[in-house]
Amino acid sequence: MRILITAGPTREYLDDVRYLSNASSGRMGYAIAEAVLAAGHEAVLVSGPVSLTPSLGCEVHQVETTEELHTVCNRLFVGCQGVIATAAVCDYRPRERFQGKLAKTGVSLELELVETADVLADLGQQKGPRWIVGFALESDEFAHINALRKLKQKNCDAIVLNRPTAIGSTDNQIEIINQSGQSVVKYSGTKSDVARELWQWIENHLVEPLA
Ligand code: C5P
Repeated sequence: MRILITAGPTREYLDDVRYLSNASSGRMGYAIAEAVLAAGHEAVLVSGPVSLTPSLGCEVHQVETTEELHTVCNRLFVGCQGVIATAAVCDYRPRERFQGKLAKTGVSLELELVETADVLADLGQQKGPRWIVGFALESDEFAHINALRKLKQKNCDAIVLNRPTAIGSTDNQIEIINQSGQSVVKYSGTKSDVARELWQWIENHLVEPLA
């Protein structure tokens, strides 16, 4: 099987040297790619800028902006049987990217932001018989409701709920939510352990029913 995995943050440029982004380390996505490879499958990793070395044998496509992530994922999705989206995608980008470096003017500057494309929702619309697993990083008491809403909006087969403590950490605590909104299983441990458990769950619940 050939699996598409997104990882890391995206960057949205304000000018040629400044950008909006987030603190995603990419560790969860890289650990999933490793688990997929270890299970004997092909891992196609589309990664935002991170300081990690992908596992040997992993096909890697480096991207920076959400638009690049979108284009590359759309191109690669055709040859894949499933998607696991861990990327921490910027939801907004500056409307305009200024050339060079914006100079200080002595007065305040207003920044207009516009929404970026939802990469996973787009893949979800085209998925056909393929399966899709999204990640939802949620902080508040409505975490489950929010995660389920995202699962539906993006046409996912399951969504992995995790918490803001996951950002930049070597460990994670996840909860898998299925299409009926049930929290079916919880795993915690290092991101490598969690990635192996998650992959095993996907093989048992999403891959085999389709085989
Ligand atoms: O940011 P959000 O909570 O909506 O992310 C949920 C899922 O959607 C994640 O799997 C993320 O990688 C994906 N996503 C995406 N493109 C976006 C926003 C999120 O692929 N623009």
